[in-house]
Amino acid sequence: MTRYLIHGGRPLHGSIEISGAKNAAVAILPAALLINGKCRIENVPQISDVTLILQILRELGADVRAVNKTTVEIDCSHIHNKPVPYELARKIRASYYLVGALLGRFGWAQVPPPGGCNLGGRPIDQHIKGFVAMGADVEVRNGLIHARVEGGRLRGGQVYLDMVSVGATMNIMLAAALAKGMTVIENAAKEPHIVDLANFLNSMGANIMGAGTDVIKIRGVESLQGGFYSIIPDQIEAGTYMAAVAAAGGEVLIKNVIPKHLDCITAKLVEMGVDVEELDDAVLVRRTGPIRRTNVKTMPYPGFPTDMQPQIAACLCLAKGTSVLTEGVWENRYRYVDEFRRMGARIQVDGKVAVIEGVGMLTGAQVHACDLRAGAAMVIAGLAAQGDTEIDGVYHIERGYESIVEKLSNVGADIRIVYIPGDEARIQAG
Ligand code: UD1
Repeated sequence: MTRYLIHGGRPLHGSIEISGAKNAAVAILPAALLINGKCRIENVPQISDVTLILQILRELGADVRAVNKTTVEIDCSHIHNKPVPYELARKIRASYYLVGALLGRFGWAQVPPPGGCNLGGRPIDQHIKGFVAMGADVEVRNGLIHARVEGGRLRGGQVYLDMVSVGATMNIMLAAALAKGMTVIENAAKEPHIVDLANFLNSMGANIMGAGTDVIKIRGVESLQGGFYSIIPDQIEAGTYMAAVAAAGGEVLIKNVIPKHLDCITAKLVEMGVDVEELDDAVLVRRTGPIRRTNVKTMPYPGFPTDMQPQIAACLCLAKGTSVLTEGVWENRYRYVDEFRRMGARIQVDGKVAVIEGVGMLTGAQVHACDLRAGAAMVIAGLAAQGDTEIDGVYHIERGYESIVEKLSNVGADIRIVYIPGDEARIQAG
């Protein structure tokens, strides 16, 4: 088991290249199951969630070939539908996309309920509501999701989502791509990765309109063919490094981004006294003065992303004055607060609201990465803190950040990976 050891207090200087978007990749790779032919997908992030999905695709008989570090060729022409392996699917949240993709391709799917970060209850009732509207029977039996449609092909349906759900929107798009007739999703999510999934499917022959708005129409087609596609850059990875510069100080060029996708994050950092200069496909982030307090409320896109909430909290701990953070998406996303307190942070949590009294300076401590984004926030806090921070549970971080240690070292951070024998047993027991 590995840990990260950070000696904090060094400003960051240089440039960081952003990888492909995790939350786009974890939907686009399962979408390959719908395609009769070979698709070549570029800008695939090298993260453990992607490795797991590719492993699941191989188990289902897909021919998966790595062309280079960030490009894969997937041929699902000869896949055989069978239950998705439990041990693999339970490790990731995005395994729910296998239900939509397999149901769309074969008319039945048997998939374990999703795993992934513990952010409170993570129901999938809206996904199921969508499949049912397309004629499927869905039940959870013996710990597995069983979905089936009479006759083997879904038919178009009308779905109004009761809440804005990224996963339900993408899963219904997957299921509807090969359905007979038109599916309409109302109150759809608008995240950049939803547009990316629609663009991917359309480039393979699907007919999806309105992605990026709250009404998406999918006219089902008879089949999808292979092709080429490049995944968009990761908005949250970019935002995380922007927050790292805000916290640690310095000046970093964050490359391979779509600055428009970062507007919600940029706006907050600017309010906090950070300079952000937008270039064509990069942002230059600079912080020389003190961090100012602000209030942040997380919301579906184009609001401030919930997946940036712990990272911005790390910055607000260092601010002058008191900030109010309101979590507007998940019911339980403050589990990391105790870890920050070990570093000297002053945070009070009441339900969805956290009141952060800026302390100006954090001090290094031994902390735990309790989930993916909380882990990234621990790294940010460690970079800014005085002294040494040791983070365990870093496998959470590696689910979603490609080469984080290398990328940060390249801009002058003192961060390294250490191996602690016996750690695995301790963490599993805890
Ligand atoms: C995705 C992201 C996750 C991010 C979240 C919100 C992936 C793999 N994960 O998660 O990192 O934090 O979007 O941007 O892409 N809900 C229901 N019923 C449902 C579905 C959702 O009640 O059927 C609720 C959830 O409990 C949550 C809210 O809706 O409170 C939003 O969830 P959703 O957008 O679906 O999140 P995910 O797609 O799971």
